[in-house]
Amino acid sequence: MAKSAELHFEGKVYELPVVEGTEGEKAVDISKLRGQSGLITLDVGFKNTGSTKSAITFLDGEKGILRHRGYTIEELCEKAQFLDVAYLLIYGEYPTPEVSKTFAEKITLHTLVHEDMRKIFDGFPTSAHPMGVLSSLVTSLTAFYPESLDPTTSPEGVNTTIIRLLAKLPTIAAWSYKNEMGHPLNYPKNKLNYVENFLHMMFALRTDDYEINPVVAAAMNKLLILHADHEQNCSAATVRVVGSSQASLYASVSAGINALWGRLHGGANQAVIEMLENIKADGGDVEKYIAKAKDKNDPFRLMGFGHRVYKNFDPRARIIKKSCDDVLESLGIHDETLEIAKKLEEVALKDDYFVSRKLFPNVDFYSGIIYRAIGIPTDMFTVMFALGRLPGWIAQWKEMREEGQAIGRPRQVYVGENERKLNI
Ligand code: SDX
Repeated sequence: MAKSAELHFEGKVYELPVVEGTEGEKAVDISKLRGQSGLITLDVGFKNTGSTKSAITFLDGEKGILRHRGYTIEELCEKAQFLDVAYLLIYGEYPTPEVSKTFAEKITLHTLVHEDMRKIFDGFPTSAHPMGVLSSLVTSLTAFYPESLDPTTSPEGVNTTIIRLLAKLPTIAAWSYKNEMGHPLNYPKNKLNYVENFLHMMFALRTDDYEINPVVAAAMNKLLILHADHEQNCSAATVRVVGSSQASLYASVSAGINALWGRLHGGANQAVIEMLENIKADGGDVEKYIAKAKDKNDPFRLMGFGHRVYKNFDPRARIIKKSCDDVLESLGIHDETLEIAKKLEEVALKDDYFVSRKLFPNVDFYSGIIYRAIGIPTDMFTVMFALGRLPGWIAQWKEMREEGQAIGRPRQVYVGENERKLNI
């Protein structure tokens, strides 16, 4: 099996090593290309470029496979608790019951945020988008825990920062929602588990009047697991690049939150519901919107469709679509937008424009329908994505830092003006 590739250029032949992963993926290692040949490669959007080796998540876009540390997303969704999946992603092994209990207890001890953070919340108008509040408050954690800024801190110190972030993000997320609603803030209840505590802080109008619905808690647990990590997606790559400058975990994750906010990435779940609502308001004419999505002169895209890696189906979308039916039925909710979504999928998957471009529903296509059924408002959907993705971002940052990777600094091809004189 070839362990190298040859590049022929201007009469010379350059031999480049080929790296093979544990799942048989192969990559040409070009780390010495410029030194050997003076050449760099160009790949706008990194569609063909690997930025790192990683042992955290494996995707097979052709077969619709998603595994975290070797465990399939289907099995994790069926059997696991989100906090245990977080532990698996960050520390590499699924926790034993004892380790799981200790980990959850440590998290519980850090769910409170410093009371002075309320002053920062109070500074935001109720019109502030929760994602902007979230990224700002995560960055502000560096002010309350300045030791997190030290890149030479011990592994124990890094773990404390990790625990604090996992513990406090649900509180910050729930408070960003309460701030938007103008409601009083709810404090964490330590006798509740991670998911239940978040639901309590989100929806309890007074501290003891909110009953945790087990169907809602189970759906939330599954949704958080489904979003937990996704190898080198836009926001994870952002966290890695920011962290590679030796910026703190809080600063790196705040950058990841902002990358996720974009509607082509995590912001798509909000854009999907807004799209479905627009189609519903426009009489539910699915064919009209399929035509708009295909029209190159029309900026409309079918949000929640397409993926850089998955070219047959997104396994997460399949799981969420099934959960949609279960949760809505269990809660006795009929949501017209679910019918519109299913019709859109049905029509699109028979249309050559989508089939030829291998465009299928992705994780964002159905998730908003469940979030809404749970009572999550639309502009909190991407915050929910961030809550789920947090352990993935932490795991990617930790792997990059432990490997002592070089600062991420891509090259470019300059196409601007050649040297010229300033005649003034
Ligand atoms: C997430 O990377 C990850 O893993 C991300 C994620 C994660 O867990 O982290 O999975 C989460 O971000 C999911 C994606 C959510 N975004 C959306 O649903 C927004 C709508 N989708 C697209 O914008 C698009 O499909 C992307 C951004 C998801 C992928 O873009 P690519 O890989 O750069 O593909 P492309 O834009 O080059 O599209 C290829 C072709 C183009 O047509 P042609 O130029 O070949 O004629 O497909 C077309 C595109 O115009 N196309 C679409 C389309 N998506 C792609 N046409 C209509 N509707 C769409 N949704």
